[in-house]
Amino acid sequence: MLYHIVTFGCQMNVHESEKIAFILESKGYKLTENREDADVIVFNTCAIREGAEDRMFGNVGALKKLKKQKPNLIIAVCGCATQKYSTGEYIKNKFPFVDIVIGTFNLHKLDDYLDQVKFKKVFDIWQEGEIDEQKSYLRSSGKNAWVNIMYGCNNFCTYCIVPYVRGREKSRKPENILKEVQEIVNSGLYNKITLLGQNVNSYGKDLDINYNFTKLLKDITSINGDFKVGFMTSHPKDITDELIDEIATNDKILKEVHLPAQSGNNRILKLMNRSYTREKYLEIINKIKKLIPNVSLTSDFIVGFPTESEEEFQETLNLVEEIKFNSIFAFIYSPREGTVAAKMDGQIPEEIKRNRVNRLLSLEKKLQKEVNKK
Ligand code: 5AD
Ligand code: SF4
Repeated sequence: MLYHIVTFGCQMNVHESEKIAFILESKGYKLTENREDADVIVFNTCAIREGAEDRMFGNVGALKKLKKQKPNLIIAVCGCATQKYSTGEYIKNKFPFVDIVIGTFNLHKLDDYLDQVKFKKVFDIWQEGEIDEQKSYLRSSGKNAWVNIMYGCNNFCTYCIVPYVRGREKSRKPENILKEVQEIVNSGLYNKITLLGQNVNSYGKDLDINYNFTKLLKDITSINGDFKVGFMTSHPKDITDELIDEIATNDKILKEVHLPAQSGNNRILKLMNRSYTREKYLEIINKIKKLIPNVSLTSDFIVGFPTESEEEFQETLNLVEEIKFNSIFAFIYSPREGTVAAKMDGQIPEEIKRNRVNRLLSLEKKLQKEVNKK
């Protein structure tokens, strides 16, 4: 009995696929890299941009033939795209050969669903759920161990689907995180631990104890052992001096900060609901650069947000030029059904968006050469 997992999207999904792998192996399945040989195929999907969703639909659609040849094949679809408004139903109707469709809040039920599916198809998308602390993982990211510290997001950036498909922020209890890290360290298999969350700096705000991300970093790094700690993703509005100081002075914390700016223009930042200005962002970056020499800075940008003018886009270009990141990710704005920005007037034509992303990427290429040389 063999399984195959296809993962789309971010590190959170990569890590959740390690959980899916654990569930499947505990039921006796073994991994195959070849989907034609599999008895169970799981698609762990992403909804952040249209492209990710289209690729997922293409991949799932292509299995129709395989399912005909192998009627006992089990096809499961989970992750952010199924949770998205209307997409779960769409998958159920458009791809009737899919056996299991589940959302982001009930992944841990996959074990039961694999038993149930012998009798009937499973379509189960929960609207919310508690943190599953019973989980185990089949870690498969080399010497790096991912540790999820929180789920969801409260920020509602106007372009972003995440709060709708992952729910409100929920922090794991510090004792559960520390126990997991201790086990990772005890195993002796890993030298890097990467803490994951949509917005790690707001860790702890929803807990009824006086605890925050900096305290968590202190507690994790005080565990004995030879390992380094990294984290992603940070929101500029929640970066504190205390946190920058901790990164700067703690030898166990990697000197890497991924801090998405999204735009260099204040009007667009406001429309995006990012709660900081270009000036504030620059102030944080300059503080980080000053206090953490040789820091590796990376960022995300979106081009072609509704109503973005050529001049406003140029402010993104000159912000990138000014900061000289180690690398950036540049995305074409993709309207997501259900978000505020998708309903805004002034959507930018595709060819302009493509032109802007190409210009941003070629600037990035030029700058990266200089930064890497240094
Ligand atoms: N369109 C384009 N890019 C997006 N991102 C999030 N939502 C969208 C969207 N609708 C980008 C942001 C975020 C990264 C993970 O994906 O830059 O930081
Ligand atoms: Fe999306 Fe903004 Fe939350 Fe990041 S902070 S997940 S961009 S809503």
